[in-house]
Amino acid sequence: MARIAVVGSINMDLVTTTGRRPEPGETLLGRDFEMVPGGKGSNQAIAARRAGAEVEFVGAVGADLFAPVLRQVLDDAGVGTRQLRSAPGPSGVASIVVDETGENTIIVIEGANAALTELGPADLAAVAAADILLCQLEIPVPTVLAAARHARVAGTTVLLNPSPAQDLPAELWSAVDIAVVNAGEAERLAAPLNSVAHVVVTRGAAGAEYRGPEGEVTHPGVRVEVVDTTGAGDTFTGALAAHWHEGPAAALAWACTAGALATTKLGASAAIPSRAEVESALPRAQRN
Ligand code: RIB
Repeated sequence: MARIAVVGSINMDLVTTTGRRPEPGETLLGRDFEMVPGGKGSNQAIAARRAGAEVEFVGAVGADLFAPVLRQVLDDAGVGTRQLRSAPGPSGVASIVVDETGENTIIVIEGANAALTELGPADLAAVAAADILLCQLEIPVPTVLAAARHARVAGTTVLLNPSPAQDLPAELWSAVDIAVVNAGEAERLAAPLNSVAHVVVTRGAAGAEYRGPEGEVTHPGVRVEVVDTTGAGDTFTGALAAHWHEGPAAALAWACTAGALATTKLGASAAIPSRAEVESALPRAQRN
């Protein structure tokens, strides 16, 4: 069983569903509203756990009504929360609009995620004890760098999902062993990605590709009825990390299947499939 430390964000997603997205200056009557725990870090942690890994989450919630709900969703999933701290002020939130094609637009307000500026000895011990450190970019970049630096020294593999895409220090890129990017990020980050040993590019319904020391591997898209694409990339990344030790072909098959299944329900964490759901869909996925 892979051991994974996630140093990342956790948000409450405020999800509005609508037939179409409004034009600038337009008011629309939408269809529904739901609050669903999310955040790229938390989603990836839950996805890795549901894919069979042992997972420790390092992050921060605020001191508001959302905080206990966010903590609970990790506890219920069996993700370790010893390094989840409480910061003063609001938790992270994401305002999400999902249209009838399942496409979304998202604005994240960092809240407590911005307070994750220091990693203490227990946080660093969780990183050192893991096989894989999994990070994204919804927490301060110096914290991601500190975690990656420590992972490097400890021999922990560093997997970065550089999302939301932004310019990063060269030292961080040089500490990354595996990068998982979508097609847009792959284009924007083409130069730094050249220095990363293992690169996985996700292409939504068209599947995903791997390039690295083990050659080039592609996995086709998995056909499903799409309800909401929110968190599908996170589910892909968490599942990939959990199955990385099986090699790129097996890891891509798991990740593509889990990511596709995650689009069949509304809400990020609520849609992450269980290991059994992925296992029963895998043979179908491999036939596609
Ligand atoms: O990747 C999806 C996630 O992005 C959402 O859960 C939202 O919280 C934002 O972080």
